[in-house]
Amino acid sequence: MKSEGPFDFHGRTVFVAGGSSGINLGIAEAFAQHGATLAILGRSQERIGTALEQLRRHGGEAAGYSADVRDAAAVRDALAQAHARFGAIDVLVSGAAGNFLAPALGMSANGFKTVVDIDLLGSFNVLRGAHEFLRKPGASVISLSASQAFVPTPFQAHVCAAKAGVDMLTRVLAMEWGADGIRVNSIVPGPIEGTEGIRRLAPNDEERRRMTARVPLSRYGTCADIAGIAMVLSSPLGAYITGVVLPVDGGISLAGPRDFSAAWTATRRER
Ligand code: COA
Ligand code: NAP
Repeated sequence: MKSEGPFDFHGRTVFVAGGSSGINLGIAEAFAQHGATLAILGRSQERIGTALEQLRRHGGEAAGYSADVRDAAAVRDALAQAHARFGAIDVLVSGAAGNFLAPALGMSANGFKTVVDIDLLGSFNVLRGAHEFLRKPGASVISLSASQAFVPTPFQAHVCAAKAGVDMLTRVLAMEWGADGIRVNSIVPGPIEGTEGIRRLAPNDEERRRMTARVPLSRYGTCADIAGIAMVLSSPLGAYITGVVLPVDGGISLAGPRDFSAAWTATRRER
């Protein structure tokens, strides 16, 4: 694809934690289409391999690293390897996450901790671990949040707590790292077509209809809807934006808490 103006990312390095599938892969692919060099991180080697094939079709370089975001040393090692190979990281996307539907009384301490560890501690590990490898000045850091961060949502206690933490981390690091010329923002996707996240929250046609009916723009979003904003935030057009938590959600977060009780019944795991 021809790239010019603010969206020319030739010569730029983009590191995407959780970049082997879904929205994060959609973001990685958009940057690849606009000339960037990509590094992606996830756990499954197989998923990473498939994603790299997809990214390399756009003609640029792409490398994959297998690590669990809960392991700070492994994450730092992956970031160091990407830095050694491609140079300073211009855009860092932190999007690894886990989710399942369960009432608080239906999840163990380990179930709650698992999601908090992946989403919140994992984001800290990715951002903290990346700081020394980020371009200074100029880097754009983006965390993937969710409306659960500010809409209290039954059956999502773990995600609500974790993503609220992610957004506060965004604001704090925007303040701490502003002097280095690093901007830190959160994107809050709405329900995104064809992703694992939405398969877990709207597991059948009835739930899908109920979810769509709550979106003021009356449709699911696409990975491209999210990727476009990630590019704007990382381009010169976003040069004065930091510490922002930006819903890109068709307006669904205006509608208040969702009722996930039927979806939970469809996916429930007896404890
Ligand atoms: N209901 C209640 N508890 C559940 C659950 C469910 N549906 N699914 C998992 N848990 C609990 C487990 O029982 C376990 O707790 P326990 O040890 O007390 O039994 C705990 O969560 C950890 O489960 P485990 O399968 O060992 O975790 P993991 O680290 O292998 O995987 C998950 C993490 C559970 C989040 C897994 O679904 C995952 O890897 N998801 C990534 C993809 C994803 O969720 N995408 C959507 C992003 S929005
Ligand atoms: P997804 O397809 O499940 O992608 C998750 C990615 O993270 C995968 O690459 C996965 O690969 C990786 N990952 C998961 N756990 C990991 C771990 N412990 N260590 C390292 N990598 C890990 O997710 P998605 O549905 O597209 O969601 C992407 C992001 O958007 C998430 O942050 C999510 O909270 C947010 N979001 C999504 C929606 C939606 O509609 N989908 C809505 C709001 C917010 P491995 O499993 O191989 O590790």
